[in-house]
Amino acid sequence: QPKPTYKIACIGGDGIGPEVISAGVEVLRAICASPRCGFDLEFHEYDWSSDRYLRTGRYIPDDDDDLEGRKDQGLNSLKEKDAILFGSVGTPSVPDHISLWGLRLSICQPLQMYANVRPSKILPGISSPLSGVTVGDLDWLIIRENSEGEYSGHGGRSHLGQDHEVATEVSIFTRSSLLRIMRFAFSQASLRPRKLLTVVTKSNAQRNGMVLWDQVASEVSTEFPDVRWDRMLVDAMTVRMVRDPASLDTIVATNLHADILSDLAAALSGSIGIAPTANLDPTRRNPSMFEPIHGSATDIVGKGLANPVGTFWSSAMMLDWLGETRASQLLLQAIRHCCQEVNVKTPDVGGSSTTGQVTQAMIRYITSNDRLLQLD
Ligand code: NAI
Ligand code: MG
Repeated sequence: QPKPTYKIACIGGDGIGPEVISAGVEVLRAICASPRCGFDLEFHEYDWSSDRYLRTGRYIPDDDDDLEGRKDQGLNSLKEKDAILFGSVGTPSVPDHISLWGLRLSICQPLQMYANVRPSKILPGISSPLSGVTVGDLDWLIIRENSEGEYSGHGGRSHLGQDHEVATEVSIFTRSSLLRIMRFAFSQASLRPRKLLTVVTKSNAQRNGMVLWDQVASEVSTEFPDVRWDRMLVDAMTVRMVRDPASLDTIVATNLHADILSDLAAALSGSIGIAPTANLDPTRRNPSMFEPIHGSATDIVGKGLANPVGTFWSSAMMLDWLGETRASQLLLQAIRHCCQEVNVKTPDVGGSSTTGQVTQAMIRYITSNDRLLQLD
């Protein structure tokens, strides 16, 4: 029987993005190199970045652009891949709202990746800045509405430069999008042992969209009688995350709120360099995209200081989404081994290893433990 081969689009992007993505690809190649691995990965590299934008005026080329004789290198070519690995985008010479909308949101929105999923947990060998909080005390799954809300792109500016200049940034909340994200959140909560969901809003001050959000949560909850759920206002939520992390499990929030809360979660669980994200199209009509949550970290580019663990963890989420559970487990186990047992860590988490040394330690572990890839 031929092995399934998954086509993976790799978009390194800017700053440390290409460094962590190539580390991720090396580790994934080590998994596929095992004779015990039941699948293959085919990597397709894309040079979509701020560099390309500055050269050509576009982050993503048109589908019918003829690039060095190759057609079909635009968004349509992503749609035929099985998954996307993404680094980061953002550079000092391009305003952040241009780069974010030009690349990342131009992929997530048309490909309908409406659920952004961010696990946060303290790994063995990594310490939390919260005193007394250790492995097991903080194990969250943050689900972020990824298609509308505060980041819907509605609004405008007029009377530019005048005293009475005005700008609007309109939040959009639609019943259909709220239903799909709530159903996704409740079902994710029901798959976890604690079956506990916290719905975050700001429905005291924002009395339209946020009230609809609460209402839809309440409606959907009746479809999931096994899930216990509660509601939090986003400001009080920051306090609860810091003061009582063990009281939380699965969390669902709007695009903006979850963006902020998940950065806080990443910091509380050790480092922004470790945390992974999946941008999922749960309908599976489009490929989903996996990326570390950190940005392009221009202050550490080219120095070997980039922590690749966020990309390894994101790659594990990708394998899990592709249905390759054993390979995903092996990758997570290799991460735990490096952080704890051999203590191969980058400086952001208190070690002195380089990106390359962490990558090599991962590969050694994978190669010598590849029996875990096989069915019992
Ligand atoms: P950042 O995440 O790039 O960096 C924040 C701090 O964390 C820096 O001191 C950096 O050195 C450190 N850091 C980040 N990732 C690290 C890693 N893997 N290993 C070790 N240290 C790491 O956030 P910042 O500085 O706010 O943004 C820089 C650029 O990245 C901006 O242009 C921003 O728009 C963009 N950005 C892009 C994101 C994306 O593509 N998804 C997400 C966040 C920011
Ligand atoms: Mg963010």
